[in-house]
Amino acid sequence: NALGLDLGTSGLRALLMAEDGSVIASAAQSARATNPHPGWSEQDPGEWVTALEAAMAALAASHPEAMAQVAGIAVSGHMHGATLLDGAGEVLRPCILWNDTRSHAEAAELDAMPAFRAVSGNIVFPGFTAPKLKWVAKNEPEIFERTSKILLPAAYLNYYMTGEFVSDMSDAAGTAWLDCGGRDWSDALLEATGLSRAQMPALVEGCAVAGRLKPELADRWGIPRSAVVAGGAADNAASACGTGSLSEGEGFVSLGTSGVLLAARDGYHPEAASALHTFCHAVPGQWYQMGVMLSATDSLNWLSRITGLKPAALTGELGDLAAPGRERFLPYLAGERTPHNDAFIRGAFTGLGSDTGRADMTRAVLEGVAYGLRDSAEALRGAGAQLGPLLIIGGGSASAHWVEMIATVLDLPMMLPKAGEFGAALGAARLALVAATGGDPVALMTRPEIGRVIEPNDRLRDAFEAAYQKHRASYSAIRNIQ
Ligand code: XUL
Repeated sequence: NALGLDLGTSGLRALLMAEDGSVIASAAQSARATNPHPGWSEQDPGEWVTALEAAMAALAASHPEAMAQVAGIAVSGHMHGATLLDGAGEVLRPCILWNDTRSHAEAAELDAMPAFRAVSGNIVFPGFTAPKLKWVAKNEPEIFERTSKILLPAAYLNYYMTGEFVSDMSDAAGTAWLDCGGRDWSDALLEATGLSRAQMPALVEGCAVAGRLKPELADRWGIPRSAVVAGGAADNAASACGTGSLSEGEGFVSLGTSGVLLAARDGYHPEAASALHTFCHAVPGQWYQMGVMLSATDSLNWLSRITGLKPAALTGELGDLAAPGRERFLPYLAGERTPHNDAFIRGAFTGLGSDTGRADMTRAVLEGVAYGLRDSAEALRGAGAQLGPLLIIGGGSASAHWVEMIATVLDLPMMLPKAGEFGAALGAARLALVAATGGDPVALMTRPEIGRVIEPNDRLRDAFEAAYQKHRASYSAIRNIQ
């Protein structure tokens, strides 16, 4: 058996998987993040350990026989977080999280140095790890001086479980210090931030062995002392493993709080200027590229708060998919990553008339998100990615109306998986099983069973295409008046 641990911003979920890939059980525990100042987002790594211990205790109590058969464990982590340790391995300050924007000035400074985009393959976004360390150096110099190791959240749990400092490639790719093509730390980029390789964890592939579980943890959790801990993965790479998105032509749309369009790549084809993320995959010799929009279902949730109607009630008023109307919505409630890399842009409604009703505004919000995903699809195609039929996952995919709209705007069939397990926890469990058994990742990391395929609407394709072209023109217009 294998254990996949999905460490998210709001909690940790442990998934126990059998050797044949079927799910045995899972246990979840919440964790708290804090916002001590506007734009700040932090989490005490102790929260991760408490959640991990509680989830393992729950599984040890409910499924002792299955736990006694665990051969491997892997962690999927929320990306980019800076966990700083002193020489004794003690945490120096709360982890600065992926959605913390305090270091936007430092990000712009690093991004202006050509080496960062050239070597890491990515824009230095304010959420990435390197600018956070530059912020710490400037604002908390005594902590920067004492920083002996910098770990991502998943690597911190690897350290807790094995006593070794090890990260996988996919998570390391989100620091801005990795040579993503060469799959190694860049001494030049570390030096540009006042750091050296000695402060970074060792690197392994996500499905390779990172270390052995500490005997005292193995005994406490009822797991054999021979169990290995795999490198693990960044959450998006783990989701790609869970949905079987490993090779060119495979990918998914995730319609969650934020929206992701991810395409697996057989080679390294960075396109930093497009604001795509180009990261190492969690399996050797593969990469993935993704466009990230910051407010996807969050845009609909915002309208839901304004109107006092649940999102499902809002989309339920819409009826069959219809041609776009005059109203348009720009979904930049929290700034945007792909394709604008603009932390300060905010959203807009345009085309309102005295005849505009609630359903028109809902429709405009759904369309704005669909056009945002199309922006990512255009960027991916520009980088040479082959986009075929895509899986669609996340809370927003419950609306068939929205999914048909996205299929039409992207001009790609959308595949809705049958209910079941296909997320980051399953991806992590699959990585753990490969590390423990030496099995073939491609054979194990299959696509979930598809429940329904929603095709683009031929009749409406041209109308949506024309509306998308107007959407493209609106960013610079509203940018100029904000
Ligand atoms: C990716 C990103 C998020 C976090 C949150 O670049 O910031 O997906 O990993 O989970």
